Amino acid sequence: MNTGFVVFGGTANPRLADAVTREMGVATGAAEVERFPDGELTVRLEESVRGKEVFIVQSTCPPVNDHLMELLAFADAARRSAAGRITAVVPYFGYARADRRNQRREPITASLVAALMQAAGIAHVVTVDLHTPQIEGFFSIPVDTLSAVGALVDDLRGRLDPATVVVSPDAGRVKLATEYALELDAPLAVLHKRRQSGSETEVTQLVGEVEGRPCLLVDDIISTGGTLVQSVRALQAAGATEFRVAATHGLLLRDALGRLAAEGVAEVLVTDTVPLPPASEGSPVRVATVAPLVAGVIRKLLYGTPPAR
Ligand code: R5P
Repeated sequence: MNTGFVVFGGTANPRLADAVTREMGVATGAAEVERFPDGELTVRLEESVRGKEVFIVQSTCPPVNDHLMELLAFADAARRSAAGRITAVVPYFGYARADRRNQRREPITASLVAALMQAAGIAHVVTVDLHTPQIEGFFSIPVDTLSAVGALVDDLRGRLDPATVVVSPDAGRVKLATEYALELDAPLAVLHKRRQSGSETEVTQLVGEVEGRPCLLVDDIISTGGTLVQSVRALQAAGATEFRVAATHGLLLRDALGRLAAEGVAEVLVTDTVPLPPASEGSPVRVATVAPLVAGVIRKLLYGTPPAR
């Protein structure tokens, strides 16, 4: 057994961390996270990391600030315990949508998060379907962005109506939707979205032919589901017949699944970069795992062997 590395899992998504270590045939590193009544937290690594490659699997999903602080505390604990290289495996990167200033006197929080991670001693970041690639530029350390499209398409292949059109809900997701369309050998349509607030959007235009055809709407994140609800309505108005959704990060807040089901969405496919909310039991949701993808990149960083896919 290789004892030169340890993979720890934070509390954001321990099931994914365990799935990753299972793929690798090792046990998840022993650590305790304790939360205090005043909202502070501490992390205790319960095994030696001296001179070792340390991987910390922690999505910065809601509650974003708690999970981010926990990741930083894990890194600080490892750094102070003389770890070798510390790699943050952040399958879902919170604050990724804060990658620019929309108005004057606003922060660029994604850049601040990058600075905090580096200050905590993180020397390498692995993430999945980062909202925008320019976030990599906020770091002066290596960032590996993995694509979950392969895992999602593997789940969809053979189950979709051959007439299905892949739909991008906005201009920002055209590249992602093109990847799906190429993999599924399906045509592409694009909606134009205007954001009215943090949780409200309006669809103003459709480019492509959807009349009489089933649609697969794809996105990187489903947060409140507002973007996809508006998109489904626009596609319905254009004569589309059936709706499925595939997205990498299913935050699924504020009964997003219920709202999508109410619009006639037959299925929501997400990955396990973030845990499903408890209320999703019984909803039309499927989960494709990114564990082999993450385990593959960890193996590659350790041994230089190619990732699993
Ligand atoms: C926006 O640019 C993203 O790609 C997602 O479309 C958006 O974050 C989803 O949020 P919501 O589900 O709240 O509309």
